Amino acid sequence: MNLFEDIERNEKQELLNLRRELETANRQYYVDNAPTMSDREFDEKMHRLEELEKRYPQMNDPLSPTRHVGSDLAEKGNNKAFEQVTHRYPMLSLANTYSEADIQDWLHHLPSDVEIVCELKYDGLSISLWYENGTLTKAVTRGDGQKGDNVLRNIQTIRSIPQHIDNAPAFLEMRGEVLLPWENFERINREREEQEESLFANPRNAASGTLKLLDSNEVARRGLTCYLYYMLGEHLPGQTHYERLQTARNNWGFPISDAIRVCHSINEVMDFIHQWDTRRKELPVATDGIVLKVNHLHQQEELGYTAKTPRWAIAYKFPAEKQLTRLEKITYQVGRTGVITPVANLQPVQLSGTMVSRATLHNEDFVRQLGLSEGDMVWVEKGGEIIPKITGVERGEGEMAAKDYTFVSVCPECGTPLVRVEGEAAWRCPNDKTCPPQLCGKMVHFVSRKAMNIDGLGEETIDLFYTKGMLHNVADIYALNRDDIAVIPGFGTKSADKILAGVEVSKSVPWHRVLFALGIRMVGETTAKKIARRYRSVDELQWATREQLMSIDDVGEQIADNIIAWFEDMDNLEMVMRLRQAGVQFADHENVEKVEDNPVLQGMSIVISGTFNLHSRDEYKEMIERYGGKNVGSVSKKTSFILAGENMGPEKRKKAEELGVELKSEEEFLVMVNGRPEA
Ligand code: IVH
Repeated sequence: MNLFEDIERNEKQELLNLRRELETANRQYYVDNAPTMSDREFDEKMHRLEELEKRYPQMNDPLSPTRHVGSDLAEKGNNKAFEQVTHRYPMLSLANTYSEADIQDWLHHLPSDVEIVCELKYDGLSISLWYENGTLTKAVTRGDGQKGDNVLRNIQTIRSIPQHIDNAPAFLEMRGEVLLPWENFERINREREEQEESLFANPRNAASGTLKLLDSNEVARRGLTCYLYYMLGEHLPGQTHYERLQTARNNWGFPISDAIRVCHSINEVMDFIHQWDTRRKELPVATDGIVLKVNHLHQQEELGYTAKTPRWAIAYKFPAEKQLTRLEKITYQVGRTGVITPVANLQPVQLSGTMVSRATLHNEDFVRQLGLSEGDMVWVEKGGEIIPKITGVERGEGEMAAKDYTFVSVCPECGTPLVRVEGEAAWRCPNDKTCPPQLCGKMVHFVSRKAMNIDGLGEETIDLFYTKGMLHNVADIYALNRDDIAVIPGFGTKSADKILAGVEVSKSVPWHRVLFALGIRMVGETTAKKIARRYRSVDELQWATREQLMSIDDVGEQIADNIIAWFEDMDNLEMVMRLRQAGVQFADHENVEKVEDNPVLQGMSIVISGTFNLHSRDEYKEMIERYGGKNVGSVSKKTSFILAGENMGPEKRKKAEELGVELKSEEEFLVMVNGRPEA
């Protein structure tokens, strides 16, 4: 084989690998909301794939990621809860570049009289708002660009989006970006940390996860926001993009950003780019670049579209901020669950407007892979992510990567020898009885919102009370003394009363939340609910066998073993006893027998569709399960009936008609399970 054949074979293999990698990255980004590839890397790989596809047209594949936009339509899970809608106009993506030279090149190829509108590129999720005769009727996600999910009820939690507009054309579509402001993103991550839930990597992922939630109250609580940047429809006002955006803002009150400029020269464009690369750091939301659009609509039309992007627009993306600095020391941090994280202590550097002096090194393997040792010069990056990352190490010629790296062997907090479970990346401190961060971690979890929800007792207060010897385990919370709290500087009687009132209220928290609050490993909120539904009190649960536990949905071998081990521990039993004496609920007092004796929905598969007035969708879901039925996502011939609310999805309705599946209203359903047609 000659050299050229060899290169060709390698490049074709590379092309195939890139397609697979980019498909995976698309799924992780859009569906799982858990990206593993940086935007930069993604864009670079995409450009390389485009180049290779041009070189080898015989490898053409209409399904290549270069030919379609990533899809946020999930095939499974809660997505079924949203109606799928076909876009009136496909939702395209934008050509993008990190190079200013490419931008200048793009501008050079446009007609000389062109006007360019420069806008910020908001880093959220695109949304398409449909106004039919002036009323907001649908809010559709990009989906796969052809069809998306109608997330109207979640979009309606954003107050700046008008529900009605006056003097509007028969059909108007406004496109824009849904975002979670930095402030809310940080608050939600703080809460998730308390709950030991996985953190959102950046506001975009958080916004995406939020938009697909079924519970609109939770969506409202998270606080999404929106900027609109594109108008579509027929018989629209104005001859230019800029005019349309101004009309949208001034006549109809749409949230349109002020950071827009009509530019007449390359210099003006470059000026806008440079100005906003700095100013964007003061904005309440994430941006990742500048979008350039040809202003005149007739010129846009002349330029037209490729399969994936308009030719009349391009995005310039800001480079992620990166700095080279010295790794001074590797220290170790003990998390609230006992996980030990190596931390890079850095010579402080300025990154994205903040001073960075620490970065996570994740785990032992990460440090080994980079061959890091103290004194190395490392690259730190802070993209959209909150926690700075070490992305590489810079070695001078002849400088060698460290060969040996020994992870710390005892817990830096309590001195206990560490353990590493096979197959896990993390080292842990096994001393969950007396290791301070673990003790406090359990208490923080206990008081958190979804557990006992004790107002006034947060992470900092718990740490403080612990160091003062007032708290050692969760039962001590019910023995807190007003005077002891009041004398602590910064507290006083008012704060003391507030804390004690919160403690008092927590005594009426229902059993399933108490069970979650106990912090048995792997028993999350939902699992606790399911367990508590089967075992109506701690006395019953305590004696459950492994097999009995494993017959509960969601409970596998490991969880069953964790529960059994938890109740075999004398300290835990003593703690339960003290909590019980304090008045905490360890049993369900509702009349539940009636339900279990009379599982009227036993063996039925029920689909929920539409919106409801008497109960939330989640409540109906719970009722179905409580009465022995199964809530399923899609209509099939096995479906027993559809619990149909208002605005039921047309596709479900059609399918139900075809298969002859019965529809029941919420009143009919309530009569069936409750004997009464009301909430
Ligand atoms: S215009 C046909 N303008 O960036 C043109 N898009 O990477 C439609 N984006 O899918 C897009 N800010 O979600 C436009 N000012 C802006 C934008 C913007 C953010 C998003 C949008 C698009 C993506 C492309």
